[in-house]
Amino acid sequence: MCGIFGIVTQDEQPLGPILIDAARRLTYRGYDSVGAATISGSKIDLRKDVGKVEDVAARYNFAEMTGSRGMTQLRWATFGEPSQVNSQPHLDSNGDMVGAHNGNVVNNVELRKEFIAEGMTVRSQNDGETCVHAVERYIKRGYEFIDAIRLAYGDLQGDYAFVIGRANDDKLYAFKKGSGMVIGIGDGFTCLSSDLPSILPLTRNVIRPQDGEIVTLWADRVEVRSVKDGKIIQRMPETVTESMDTVQKGGYPHFMLKEIHEQAQVARELIHLLDGSPDVQLLVEKMKSARHLYLIGCGTSYHAASVGSVYIAQLAGRAAIPVLAPQFIAQYAPAVGYEDVGIFVSQSGETKDVLNALEAAEKRGMACYGLANVVGSTLTKATSFCLPLCCGYEISVPATKTFTNQVVTFLYLAYRMAGLDTPPGLDTGFAHSTNGGYPSTGSRQRSTTSSGRRALDSIPDLMEQTIEMVGPQIEAIAKDINEWNDMYCLGYGATYPIALEGALKLKEITYAHCEGMLSTEFKHGPLSAVSKGFPIVFVAGPNDVPLIISGINEVKVRGARTITIGEEDARLRANGDDLVVIPKSDAQISALLGVLPLQLLSYHMSVMRGFDPDFPRNLSKTLTVD
Ligand code: AGP
Repeated sequence: MCGIFGIVTQDEQPLGPILIDAARRLTYRGYDSVGAATISGSKIDLRKDVGKVEDVAARYNFAEMTGSRGMTQLRWATFGEPSQVNSQPHLDSNGDMVGAHNGNVVNNVELRKEFIAEGMTVRSQNDGETCVHAVERYIKRGYEFIDAIRLAYGDLQGDYAFVIGRANDDKLYAFKKGSGMVIGIGDGFTCLSSDLPSILPLTRNVIRPQDGEIVTLWADRVEVRSVKDGKIIQRMPETVTESMDTVQKGGYPHFMLKEIHEQAQVARELIHLLDGSPDVQLLVEKMKSARHLYLIGCGTSYHAASVGSVYIAQLAGRAAIPVLAPQFIAQYAPAVGYEDVGIFVSQSGETKDVLNALEAAEKRGMACYGLANVVGSTLTKATSFCLPLCCGYEISVPATKTFTNQVVTFLYLAYRMAGLDTPPGLDTGFAHSTNGGYPSTGSRQRSTTSSGRRALDSIPDLMEQTIEMVGPQIEAIAKDINEWNDMYCLGYGATYPIALEGALKLKEITYAHCEGMLSTEFKHGPLSAVSKGFPIVFVAGPNDVPLIISGINEVKVRGARTITIGEEDARLRANGDDLVVIPKSDAQISALLGVLPLQLLSYHMSVMRGFDPDFPRNLSKTLTVD
C-alpha cells in the first residue's frame, strides 16, 4: 500500500516521464491516488489527484514537469478519504517544501491539531502532510534543515518511509521507520523508493537504510546520518543482480495468469535453495524441540500456515498451531515463552498485523523465524532468520506463486522433521516410502515416488501437468457458474485450508461471496443455502474420497451443482457433476495441486466479469496498517 519514489539529477531536466514510469512500477502495491512534484530552483510544481497513474498523469500533464529533483507517490487511503487534497505529495504552509510518505503515522490526528494551533496551514487529513509539517515546525523554531528532520523523526509515530525536498536546495532527504526503503545510486543521479522494482530499471547499486537513519541525496552521492546524534554512518552500496523480466507480464494478459504459470518454476528454484540452505536444519531442530510451535500469518499466508500445520501433524506427528496474526496477540502471546517457536509467514514481509504479532512474541522471549518473499523486508530483518520464498516479484494483488511456495516450504520442513527426506547427495539409503497416507513418524526414511525420485522433486512437474490438464475445463466451468454471486468451497484435512484459499481468491477478484469451509461442517447450517444449480466446489484428497462423496450427495440431492477437484476416481465421477482431474500423487502434494484449478477458476471468473484480477478494488498488496 502506498509507494514513494524520489530522484535527484545533476541538471534541470524533464523529470515527468521518469516519475510516471516509476509510479507505474509501484502500482502493484495497490493505490487510489497519484501525485508528482518537481523542484526547479525556487519553484515547486505539484500535481496530484485520485485515479489511475495513466489517467492522472495525462489529465495533469505530468510529462511536462521539469526540475533537478522530483518525487511521485501512490496513495492507498488510510487517513482521509481518497480526494485531490488528501493525495500526495504535500506542501508545507508557505509552499517552500514538498514531501510524501508511505505507511501510517499513527499520531496523525494529534499532530494535526498541534500544527493548526501553532498557526500552520494544514490542508488535508492525510498523514503525509503531517510529516511535512513535522519538519516545518522545527524550521520555524530556527533549526537547520537536517536537525529539523531529526527532530521530526522523533515526533512521528508509526511505520512509514518519507521523502522531503525544499526550494533553493540541491538535495532530497529521506528516512524510514518500520517500513522498507531503498536508495539507488546511478550515473549522474540518485533515487529512492519504497521498494526495489521502481529503482531497478534505473540502477542496480543500492543502499538499504535502517530505521533511525536520515539519508541526504545529492545527484552524485548520498550521505547517511544517525537520527540520534547526527553523525555520519558509512554504508557501502550493494549490487542487485535480480532480473527485471519478472516484473513484465511476459506475454500474458495479466500478471496473475503469468504468476500462476510461474509456480512450477519457482517451486523448482525454491526446492534447490532449501536443499542448499544451512538454515533449514537449524529451523527443523528448533521446530522439533519447541514446547509449542506456532505458524502465524494473515490472509493467504495464514492459509499456507494452516496447510503446513496439517503436513507437520500428518508427517512428523507434531502439533503446530496455525494462527491469524492479530489473534495470536490476544490468544497466545500472553502464554508463550522462550521454549516456544513461532514461524511468521508473509509474502511482503511488511504486513503490520504480522509485525505486531512478532513484536508481541519477541517481548515474551519466543524464538521467532520467518518465511518471506521480499528479501530485505522488515520481517526478514526482525526475525532470527527468514527462509526466502524465492518467487521473485509477485505483482498481482492476489497471491498465487507465493502461496504455493509457502506450502512447498512447509512440506519440505515437515518431511525433514519426520526424517522422511534428505537433500540429494545426503541420501542415507534408508527404506523407500511411497508416503501415500499418513505414515508413522520417527522412521528415518526418504520419501520417494514410485519412480524412485524424491517426492519433493516431483512437485514442479506435477504442477505443470495440473495446469495443462485442467485449463480448458476450468474455463468452461467458470463460464457456467459465473452468474452466481454466492458459492462454497469445501475441503477436509490438508484440502480444508486449500478450500479456504480458493474461497479467498474467488472473493478477492470476482467480488462474489464464496465461503471456504470444512466439508463436514456444511450440514451444520450452510446446507440451507442450497438451491437448484447452487455451485459448490469440493477439493478431495485421495485418502478422503468416501467422506467427500457423503458431502457431495448431501448437497446434490438438494439441487446443488458440484465441482470436485481430485484425482481420477470412479466414485467421484459417479457421484458428482464435474470432476476436475489433477495428477496422482500423495495426500500432501495432492492438496497443493488442488489450489491450482481454484486459482484459475477465480482468474477466469474475474476476467469474464470485466474486472482486473491484478488490481481488485479496495485491496492492497502490502498492508502496512493495523
Ligand atoms: C492474498 O491474495 C491477499 N492479497 C492477502 O490475503 C494477503 O495474503 C495478506 O494481506 C497477507 O499478506 P502478506 O503475505 O504479504 O503478509
